[in-house]
Amino acid sequence: MKNFFRWVGGVEGLTALMVLIGLVGAPSSLMGQNAHFHNAPASTRAQKNPLAGAGGKVAAGAVTAGGKLYADKCAGCHGSGGGGAGNVPALYRGATQRATDGEVFWFVTEGSASNGMPAWGSLPEEERWEIVSYVKSLKGARPVSKMAGAGAPVKTNAAMPTEPFVDFRVEEPGTVHKITVQDLPAPYGTDSADNGPEVVERSAGAWPKAPPGFKVELYATGLENPRLIRTAPNGDYFVAESGSGKILVLRGITAEGKAELTSVFATGLKQPYGIAFYPPGEKPEWVYVGDTDAVVRFAYQNGDLKARGRTGRIAALPHGSGHWTRDVRFSLDGKKMFVGVGSASNVDDPDTTPGENNRADILEFNPDGSGMRVYAYGIRNAGGGLEIQPKTGELWCSVNERDGLGDNLVPDYITHVQEGGFYGWPWWYMGGNQDPRHKGKHAELKDKAIVPDVLLQPHNASLEFTFYEGKQFPAKYAGDIFTSEHGSWNKAVRAGYEVIRVPLHGTGKASGEYEDFVTGFVVDNGHVWGRPVGVTVAGDGSLLVTDDGSNSIWRVSYTGAK
Ligand code: HEC
Repeated sequence: MKNFFRWVGGVEGLTALMVLIGLVGAPSSLMGQNAHFHNAPASTRAQKNPLAGAGGKVAAGAVTAGGKLYADKCAGCHGSGGGGAGNVPALYRGATQRATDGEVFWFVTEGSASNGMPAWGSLPEEERWEIVSYVKSLKGARPVSKMAGAGAPVKTNAAMPTEPFVDFRVEEPGTVHKITVQDLPAPYGTDSADNGPEVVERSAGAWPKAPPGFKVELYATGLENPRLIRTAPNGDYFVAESGSGKILVLRGITAEGKAELTSVFATGLKQPYGIAFYPPGEKPEWVYVGDTDAVVRFAYQNGDLKARGRTGRIAALPHGSGHWTRDVRFSLDGKKMFVGVGSASNVDDPDTTPGENNRADILEFNPDGSGMRVYAYGIRNAGGGLEIQPKTGELWCSVNERDGLGDNLVPDYITHVQEGGFYGWPWWYMGGNQDPRHKGKHAELKDKAIVPDVLLQPHNASLEFTFYEGKQFPAKYAGDIFTSEHGSWNKAVRAGYEVIRVPLHGTGKASGEYEDFVTGFVVDNGHVWGRPVGVTVAGDGSLLVTDDGSNSIWRVSYTGAK
């Protein structure tokens, strides 16, 4: 049994487990998942797809025809990319891809009325085989909907926004916004929206937009959930593929703006996100990774494309429900390690919720993982972006604030972090504004709650940022912050889904305003094709931006051309 359970893992394992239960006599409800796909008769297993040629390949024309039928008859439930949703299974992977064509044909013909899958026996046999051919062609494809299957465009009748609170309709590269505490509406000024996007495939004409003089190229595609990206001291780019548990290394930029090579540095990580090289400087000896439940590290020398040996676990982190990303940075002198750990909830009171212990904090450790203490607190989620100001050594963070108080509360923010500082969550926000859900609590903290440096659009989901130390962009960008805004769900008309610039005016200090820098990822109020997550400065001074909507990395360079 021991070996069996080691062998059992993921979806494959589950099926294997079902088989085993089937063998020892399972309740009939489980029998549907037996070795034969949905109890398909044994004869269907060997049945050949009549549209397949000698090599088993189906002509492209038949697959295309199947795709049209699929879009019309199946996509409404299974998603246009076969990604499934809720209790409707995915088709691009899993049992459907493991079953034979004959078994799938049989199931599509019979359906499973009691479980919500219609029978399609009334369709001509050839059409059913075309559909099967198409479904099989989805194997391994990304479950992203095409607009065709994603339903009608989602228009909004909302009035156009007025500054300082804006939305995607007016986000334009070069437009400056500034939100101050005086601008904030009262809580519950609007309903609390539930407006998460459907991510659709990028259409041929869609491309990110940057200010005049900048060019946007597709640096890498076909990634799996690329999140944070950091430039190693030797110029390689480390990318956390959080969904697949991997760290990738990408190297170089070809004349066409593409990566010269991609290598898998490490696998088997637990929702990896933060990446830091240690000690700071030109010759790191370790790569630290922020898994969701621990900081781990790998021995490293410049140029390594694969981790040397196994993960070393450095420090356990509070984890479980809620925000899962853990960014990791070192102080310039290498003496301290900072880890952003977001809250477990939207607004639970840490006084009465043990799960919030040491969360919504920036934690500080020694580089060996010892000596944990809270460096700053009341920061709902700085796990998405921590950075050290390269000149002053100051710690900065990018923060996702809370939801549920209406479209225009509470602003996300970017700020330098004061040691021991309290940033409000969950009792206060943006200084001494009390969260109505915690009325009357912690009056003594009211005047302690710090107003952050830069207030961003509420619900923007501000993630990774970087200080621009490159030489390529015009001088006015020197030292400025670039940040990826993953995009809202708790706002009636979506905002974010862009890269922004926070000017520091050559002073290293923010004055509150920010500027839309790269936009164009939103299709309409229901659909987006891209979602910026990470951003880093490349060796040549261009910006690389990860996008976990289109699973790609964009390169933004300055050419000066109009
Ligand atoms: C009304 C919603 C709906 C529509 C339309 C629909 N399906 Fe399904 N489909 C389901 C549900 C629900 C299940 C799960 C049934 C079960 O578990 O027994 C399912 C199961 C399946 C499975 C088995 C997947 C698995 O992992 O077990 C296949 C294959 C499949 N559908 C193909 C299709 C095809 C092809 C079409 C279009 C011709 C289609 N479906 C249309 C709802 C739908």
